[in-house]
Amino acid sequence: MRTVKIIALAATFAVAGLKITSAAGIVGTPHDLSGKGWGTTETCKFCHTPHFAQAVTGAPLWNHATTAASYTPYSSQTFKGQNQTQPSAQSQLCLSCHDGTVAVDSFANAGVMRSGSQFITSTNLIGGGTPHSLATDHPISFTYDSALATADGALVTPASTNYVDTASATGIPLFGGKMECASCHEPHDNSKNTSGKFLRVDNASSALCRKCHNK
Ligand code: HEC
Ligand code: HEC
Ligand code: HEC
Ligand code: HEC
Repeated sequence: MRTVKIIALAATFAVAGLKITSAAGIVGTPHDLSGKGWGTTETCKFCHTPHFAQAVTGAPLWNHATTAASYTPYSSQTFKGQNQTQPSAQSQLCLSCHDGTVAVDSFANAGVMRSGSQFITSTNLIGGGTPHSLATDHPISFTYDSALATADGALVTPASTNYVDTASATGIPLFGGKMECASCHEPHDNSKNTSGKFLRVDNASSALCRKCHNK
């Protein structure tokens, strides 16, 4: 009787924890910087810390210096995204290494920020340039809701403000109802897509795109 109960509890936790990524996912990926010789071998520390985190609103226990850049946003004659803003906190986390203004090795030690010197350049540079631009990148930081799906006519109606589909290991998340870099990317897991790129699902036959665009 007791054993059965423990197994049932474990199963409940496994389901509740699906959105949380395991350490096994990130080790050995381009986001595992533990072998760089930057004063720590802790894989998570370049981005998160359990204590003395940076005061970045909406960010998960963030331990990295944050970009202060503003960007030219995506626009087109048919784009209908509402409430589009400068990249929100979730996407600023990515841009804090990927826009090339903040060094990758500018992370903190017990709250004291290290002054780094290693910058992302070329292919992995997103939102770089002068002025900084996201005009040639898929739009982010706008509300993706049922009204947008109706207005667009060829979009999946999001199940909730947290997910386009449903909470699962391959779920497509929204953040406060908005689409962000991490809707398409899972920064801790480079195994879903055959050519890496930290994608949420394998993009063969554009399966990732078709999670939202259904025509
Ligand atoms: C290169 C940067 C980076 C590293 C290294 C990193 N993370 Fe993250 N993590 C992020 C970003 C960015 C987000 C916010 C986007 C998201 O939720 O996917 C995040 C979100 C999270 C979240 C909250 C959202 C969720 O998926 O549940 C948890 C928990 C987390 N990380 C745990 C870890 C752990 C544990 C490690 C080390 C094994 C780690 N991360 C290493 C960048 C990183
Ligand atoms: C702590 C700095 C840091 C943060 C934060 C960070 N990245 Fe990266 N990312 C890197 C580095 C370093 C590389 C490898 C760059 C290189 O070797 O040129 C990389 C590589 C990548 C790649 C290419 C992977 C491949 O298979 O080639 C993608 C895609 C990516 N990051 C997306 C993201 C997204 C999306 C976020 C936010 C959810 C994010 N990154 C947050 C530092 C970071
Ligand atoms: C609509 C989905 C989507 C969004 C949103 C998105 N990406 Fe990507 N990203 C992709 C796909 C798909 C690829 C792989 C491109 C390829 O294989 O040609 C990619 C590739 C990348 C790469 C590797 C360079 C390359 O072009 O191969 C980086 C770095 C990256 N993304 C960072 C980001 C950052 C930072 C954000 C937010 C500012 C972001 N992405 C938003 C889908 C997205
Ligand atoms: C998480 C959901 C999601 C994913 C995944 C996604 N998109 Fe989108 N995409 C959207 C939404 C929402 C819009 C805004 C639609 C609108 O304005 O009518 C959009 C806009 C666009 C636009 C611009 C439309 C315009 O009118 O200017 C293009 C093109 C596009 N996406 C292509 C892609 C491609 C290609 C992929 C795969 C690499 C992809 N999307 C992945 C949700 C997504």
